[in-house]
Amino acid sequence: MTATSTSVTVRAPGKVNLQLSVGRLRDDGYHPLASVFHAVALVEEVTVAVGEPGSGIVVESVAGLQADEVPRDATNLAWRAAELVAASVGVAPDVRISIRKGVPVAGGMAGGSADGAAALLACHELWSGALDRADLAALALELGSDVPFSLLGGTALGLGRGEQLSPLLVRGTFAWVFATATAGLSTPAVYRTFDRLTAERVVPEPAADEAVVAALRAGDAAALGRALHNDLQEAALALRPTLADVLDAGRSAGALGAMVSGSGPTCAFLVADAAAGARVAGTLAGLEQVRSTHVATGPAPGARVIARRR
Ligand code: C5P
Repeated sequence: MTATSTSVTVRAPGKVNLQLSVGRLRDDGYHPLASVFHAVALVEEVTVAVGEPGSGIVVESVAGLQADEVPRDATNLAWRAAELVAASVGVAPDVRISIRKGVPVAGGMAGGSADGAAALLACHELWSGALDRADLAALALELGSDVPFSLLGGTALGLGRGEQLSPLLVRGTFAWVFATATAGLSTPAVYRTFDRLTAERVVPEPAADEAVVAALRAGDAAALGRALHNDLQEAALALRPTLADVLDAGRSAGALGAMVSGSGPTCAFLVADAAAGARVAGTLAGLEQVRSTHVATGPAPGARVIARRR
């Protein structure tokens, strides 16, 4: 009997940035960041199964949240992950990929990045690859700036493009409400708007915010709520002004902190507990700009194998 799996399922988390400080555009087209990534229990599950020899990569199903908006071609990060791992391990990329979505699409919560991270790990397991964590993290960065964090999970400071990751100490868990918007925002468009808005300003080199780090270490949700900040929020609000009403409504309903998640347009609300979360979610669900609300805790673990079939 062979020990080879015929399919592997990996779960990987979405994220919210508790701090997102953005510097001036670099020559390579990216911005230097100081990002405090926080993985939340809204997850993607990716199953990679051995395909027929010569069949190539097939994204055979996408189910769950906004599944019809997910591309099934080579622009899907799970597809690209399979290609990258196959080339690194030296096998033909004959796989069938199924994705179950729990992270909003194009929402600034790194759902596509989570698919990339999950497929990377699943393919590596499927083909019994011998890459170490650093090799996998390097492949993850080729897929996108947020993919290395989805592999790691938890709460971490990310410098550089967000790939120089150091785990942060967190006491307890935090409760979140997320409100998705009726239409997505393009990450490159939000960064271009940031460049335009800050063209005449002094933009400091991004650095970790001690208030965020201390609030996490103390498990102090009220202090964390006050410390949350996102340099891309102004740009996201310039592109989608109605998001300001969503943030205000969440604050009025009792959120400890409110901000746009990453490049948006999903809005993130830190709440004291599940009961406060239900109240905030109930208020937000009534707004016409809000497509759906989701309650989740963080930190959540990074990408991990949850099933193997032989
Ligand atoms: O790395 P990723 O492909 O996810 O980035 C998408 C786009 O977001 C980049 O092409 C770039 O326009 C912008 N970006 C950036 N600086 C970063 C991360 C992303 O300008 N640190």
